[in-house]
Amino acid sequence: MTNPESLLKLVDARIEEYRSGLSDSNLYSPIAYMMGLGGKRMRPVLTLLGCELFEGRAEDALEPALAIEVFHNFTLLHDDIMDNAPVRRGLPTVFKKWGTSSAILSGDVMSIHACHILAEMNHPRSLDVIRELNRAAIEVCEGQQMDMDFEMYKSVDLDQYIEMIRLKTACLLAGALRMGAIVAGAPEADTKLISDFGENMGIAFQIMDDYLDVFGDQEKVGKQTGGDIIAGKKTFLVLEALALSHGTEREEFSELISDRTMEATSKVEKVIAIYRKLGVPEATLKAADNYVNRAMEALNSIAAPDHRKQVILEYLNTIARRQH
Ligand code: IPE
Ligand code: IPE
Ligand code: MG
Ligand code: MG
Ligand code: MG
Repeated sequence: MTNPESLLKLVDARIEEYRSGLSDSNLYSPIAYMMGLGGKRMRPVLTLLGCELFEGRAEDALEPALAIEVFHNFTLLHDDIMDNAPVRRGLPTVFKKWGTSSAILSGDVMSIHACHILAEMNHPRSLDVIRELNRAAIEVCEGQQMDMDFEMYKSVDLDQYIEMIRLKTACLLAGALRMGAIVAGAPEADTKLISDFGENMGIAFQIMDDYLDVFGDQEKVGKQTGGDIIAGKKTFLVLEALALSHGTEREEFSELISDRTMEATSKVEKVIAIYRKLGVPEATLKAADNYVNRAMEALNSIAAPDHRKQVILEYLNTIARRQH
């Protein structure tokens, strides 16, 4: 098993190669910009880890790893338009820098590139890998639609929220691992278990993303603090605040979050003060931990040697404790 740091180097080198093949034009420059800004590269690392867990060679899963990171970055280009987000990875978002039409079209090319990379890979199970990406891609769109629908809802229950983040975020993590497992020729039962691991990890990951949106260090996170509050998102923090408050306090909070006329900075400050008062940050971290534990259970039940699973477990912990 290779350690995640070395796998990341492999991924970075392949991404650089991809970037160097993009021409310097209005269509491709936004792609080179976005893919050059780094990010955690978690999905491609998971693909390689998923492959090595089942005794495949990381090199054989490098094309799926590249494809999934290109796809992920495509979703970010469109997500930032949808969320009206001004900054990502500490720099202006593509739609702010080049305009909405560019962000749509460059994003479209990226999603096609992701499929193209898989179509060109030389592997007996490439069609199964393409199916995995396509399935996860549709799930991301379904989740993103729910995320936007929920902006207009007064409240959302926990099951609806979990289903939304499962689709928009967790399914892609699960898909990343499955793609690696498929390349390695893992049995279907184990592919399912590593997928369960990824799904629970992904749910924990998105709950943490909601947390960091508000309580993260802006420098590290690289996104606008309170962006979700400004966009009126139904995050885990909103649900938790509604669950922990009662009577008029609850009514006032509910009105505050759906107020679309209040000045952004003061709205964010007010919401944060309520979150702190109600103990929302602590409850959120606890909920994320709960899904991390579920992920560990799924990993434990996989029939693979412990030393191999240990590497994935450590990676899960780094991601769970992340500050960006
Ligand atoms: C951001 O994903 C979008 C979510 C699903 C929360 P990441 O936090 O993995 O973003 P990068 O790629 O590391 O910037
Ligand atoms: C992201 O959710 C989900 C996808 C990009 C599919 P967010 O909207 O919370 O992601 P960030 O916080 O902008 O990275
Ligand atoms: Mg967003
Ligand atoms: Mg979003
Ligand atoms: Mg977010």
